[in-house]
Amino acid sequence: MRSSWLLLPALAIEALAVPYEEYILAPSSRDLIPASVRQVNGSVTNAAALTSSAGETTFNGVSSVTYDFGLNIAGIVSVDVASASAESAFIGVAFTESSLWISNEACDATQDAGLDTPLWFPVGQGAGVYTVDKKYNRGAFRYLTVISNTTATVSLNSLHINYTAAPTQDLRAYKGYFHSNDELINRIWYAGAYTLQLCSIDPTSGDALVWLGVITSSDNITLPQTDTWWSNYTITNGSSTLVDGAKRDRLVWPGDMSIALESVAVSTADLYSIRTALESLYALQKADGRLPYAGKPFTDIVSYTYHLHSLIGAASYYEYTGDRAWLSRYWGQYKKGVQWALSSVDQTGLANITASADWLRFGMGAHNIEANAILYYVLNDAISLAQTLNDSSNIRNWSTTAAGIKSAANALLWDESSGLYTDNETTTLHPQDGNSWAVKANLTLSANQSAVISSALAARWGPYGAPAPEAGTTVSPFIGGFELQAHYLAGQPDVALDLLRLQWGFMLDDPRMTNSSFIEGYSTDGSLVYAPYRNTPRVSHAHGWSTGPTSALTIYAAGLHLTGPAGVTWLFKPQPGNLTQVEAGFETRLGAFQSIISRSSTGEYQDLTFTTPNGTSGSVELGNVSGKLVSDQGVTVRLVGGKASELQGGKWKLESI
Ligand SMILES: *[C@@H]1O[C@H](CO)[C@@H](O)[C@H](O)[C@H]1NC(C)=O
Ligand SMILES: *[C@@H]1O[C@H](CO)[C@@H](O)[C@H](O)[C@H]1NC(C)=O
Ligand SMILES: *[C@@H]1O[C@H](CO)[C@@H](O)[C@H](O)[C@H]1NC(C)=O
Ligand SMILES: *[C@@H]1O[C@H](CO)[C@@H](O)[C@H](O)[C@H]1NC(C)=O
Ligand SMILES: *[C@@H]1O[C@H](CO)[C@@H](O)[C@H](O)[C@H]1NC(C)=O
Ligand SMILES: *[C@@H]1O[C@H](CO)[C@@H](O)[C@H](O)[C@H]1NC(C)=O
Ligand SMILES: *[C@@H]1O[C@H](CO)[C@@H](O)[C@H](O)[C@H]1NC(C)=O
Ligand SMILES: *[C@@H]1O[C@H](CO)[C@@H](O)[C@H](O)[C@H]1NC(C)=O
Ligand SMILES: *[C@@H]1O[C@H](CO)[C@@H](O)[C@H](O)[C@H]1NC(C)=O
Ligand SMILES: *[C@@H]1O[C@H](CO)[C@@H](O)[C@H](O)[C@H]1NC(C)=O
Ligand SMILES: *[C@@H]1O[C@H](CO)[C@@H](O)[C@H](O)[C@H]1NC(C)=O
Ligand SMILES: *[C@@H]1O[C@H](CO)[C@@H](O)[C@H](O)[C@H]1NC(C)=O
Repeated sequence: MRSSWLLLPALAIEALAVPYEEYILAPSSRDLIPASVRQVNGSVTNAAALTSSAGETTFNGVSSVTYDFGLNIAGIVSVDVASASAESAFIGVAFTESSLWISNEACDATQDAGLDTPLWFPVGQGAGVYTVDKKYNRGAFRYLTVISNTTATVSLNSLHINYTAAPTQDLRAYKGYFHSNDELINRIWYAGAYTLQLCSIDPTSGDALVWLGVITSSDNITLPQTDTWWSNYTITNGSSTLVDGAKRDRLVWPGDMSIALESVAVSTADLYSIRTALESLYALQKADGRLPYAGKPFTDIVSYTYHLHSLIGAASYYEYTGDRAWLSRYWGQYKKGVQWALSSVDQTGLANITASADWLRFGMGAHNIEANAILYYVLNDAISLAQTLNDSSNIRNWSTTAAGIKSAANALLWDESSGLYTDNETTTLHPQDGNSWAVKANLTLSANQSAVISSALAARWGPYGAPAPEAGTTVSPFIGGFELQAHYLAGQPDVALDLLRLQWGFMLDDPRMTNSSFIEGYSTDGSLVYAPYRNTPRVSHAHGWSTGPTSALTIYAAGLHLTGPAGVTWLFKPQPGNLTQVEAGFETRLGAFQSIISRSSTGEYQDLTFTTPNGTSGSVELGNVSGKLVSDQGVTVRLVGGKASELQGGKWKLESI
């Protein structure tokens, strides 16, 4: 777990010019036009004109053109109409993230059934620019089909998207970077970062959920019958916030943030958008301490695990920002949240879960391993935070309870013959979530037990990735993100890299994907059906919870671990696996954390350099390496058993003795 959190010295940061900017997918302008023509239907003259600033595209009667923006984007559509031959003329636009749902009759979906309505411009009213209302901001699409539905002849001068994602960011001014000798791994890191930019939205453009409970998954709707989507609900305070998905739900979901927060922190460092999201959850806390399943306007539902994720969010926010004033402000609410969670712990030592709501897995109940591993993780966070804030009142109780969870989980839920924990005491199902979390939370009793879990999880992979049997035939890139962390924590970086290439490689490069952002879930057979939804067009192709690789690569492969707030203490522990080159960096308010790793094909380090901010201190774990570390201040420290501690911040380099 984390070592204790200390007081922060106040230091100025120097701007870091970000290397490898060429990998960033975010556009350099917020004014976008289509990149190419995907397909034409009917009689259209010069369809390609809308992909450049020259010429007109003319629709001759009923016809349509599908444009491709080359990557998933977001925003408000405008068409500049040159002429229309009849007053009854209309131009419609239909959006989709995946090529699977390209249509000249509907968009992909945001509701539990059916498809979303296209947007229509009454272009027969005359020449000029027509722009959709702000509430029709489409949060994610790669393809846009422009439709003429009458016999009129309509000419367009241009089609523009006002790109609205990440409203407070300078889109290409990342604070973090990553590079290795493996191009697929590099592209995955940047697609994760870009996915999170799409998921950062203007808080006044959340999903209004007008049809929640009205259009349900048992409806058989083929084409949209009514106006089906509005992005017009104010979900948080402030001018930007982080939501689960860009197309939908466009709501604050605490579980999703447990992955998204760290990947934001090591890339754009837009922790402002995370703060507004967290605050909106804490604003909904009940008098008994319970935190919500999701932010407004979602229905109030009890979820034990998502409650815990809001607590993790606060601890992680403090870890990356070191914002002690913020932590103090929320500390009373945080403690009430911990107490609410502890009220489920029974005489066995484990929490007995009675709320089934989780990440849309089934069977969340009883002495569930995932819930208990997360609770164990939260209690260790809570103890560190209490030490930081000098509030010792609960530390003994929390420590005793944590120890009780650990021994009971291993006594009641560990299945020696499978090398995995069972989901609860009355099942033989071995979940991906609980086993990944058990390793992440250090619920295991030994390093060997963690390695056994890592190998047992890897042995179950199919051709498209790691299965989550607790959710049927699902591949969950959310839980897969925790599995990645588990392989690194179990000391098996090559297993993590194999999972990255297999699962996120598929998610990035399959032609049905956006090839730029990560889908929320799919099936073990590679179909883009996410089992919890009957309505497949509803699946989000830009989901923050699927971005686990971005932080995993920076933290584990490149070895840049923060162990105290904003990195006032740190651990440099690179786990490059079979990568021969790794270079990464990110910033906190204390300054830059960077590393450069270069190895021969047999694994010897040729260059191993890392930089941490002045005024910080930390330690190094290099495994089976001998030699000495030399700082740019001329300090030399000999490695003992591959380790060194009490190093001051600065630039350090490994040298042979
Ligand atoms: C994990 O737990 C064990 C006790 O079971 C403890 O010895 C070890 O220090 C813990 N590891 C970390 C990283 O906290
Ligand atoms: C072309 O448009 C017609 C009429 O709307 C439709 O039935 C057909 O599916 C469309 N074909 C393509 C390839 O979009
Ligand atoms: C074209 O679409 C508009 C907007 O939905 C609709 O009002 C109009 O009736 C349609 N025209 C035809 C000929 O279908
Ligand atoms: C794009 O939308 C933003 C936010 O609504 C607005 O401030 C800006 O003026 C728009 N830009 C253009 C070029 O229309
Ligand atoms: C939807 O279709 C299924 C299968 O055809 C049918 O069983 C079900 O009753 C239908 N639901 C509604 C609400 O019409
Ligand atoms: C969102 O827009 C719809 C359609 O215009 C409207 O009915 C609804 O009241 C709006 N919701 C909010 C919160 O403004
Ligand atoms: C917005 O800020 C106000 C004032 O600080 C606060 O009372 C309210 O709870 C906040 N709402 C949300 C959704 O964060
Ligand atoms: C125990 O786990 C199994 C497998 O996930 C599940 O089907 C069952 O519902 C769980 N039991 C309870 C009481 O939640
Ligand atoms: C969990 O609590 C429920 C409700 O009190 C109870 O019915 C159930 O038997 C308990 N489960 C276990 C495994 O103790
Ligand atoms: C915490 O308590 C210790 C011992 O009582 C004291 O020395 C220290 O200054 C306190 N720190 C803070 C931040 O209050
Ligand atoms: C790393 O291992 C993967 C498969 O495990 C292999 O495809 C790749 O070529 C290896 N890369 C290097 C540089 O050895
Ligand atoms: C850190 O301190 C050293 C020695 O005072 C100085 O040379 C170096 O420029 C400082 N680095 C930063 C990033 O401030």
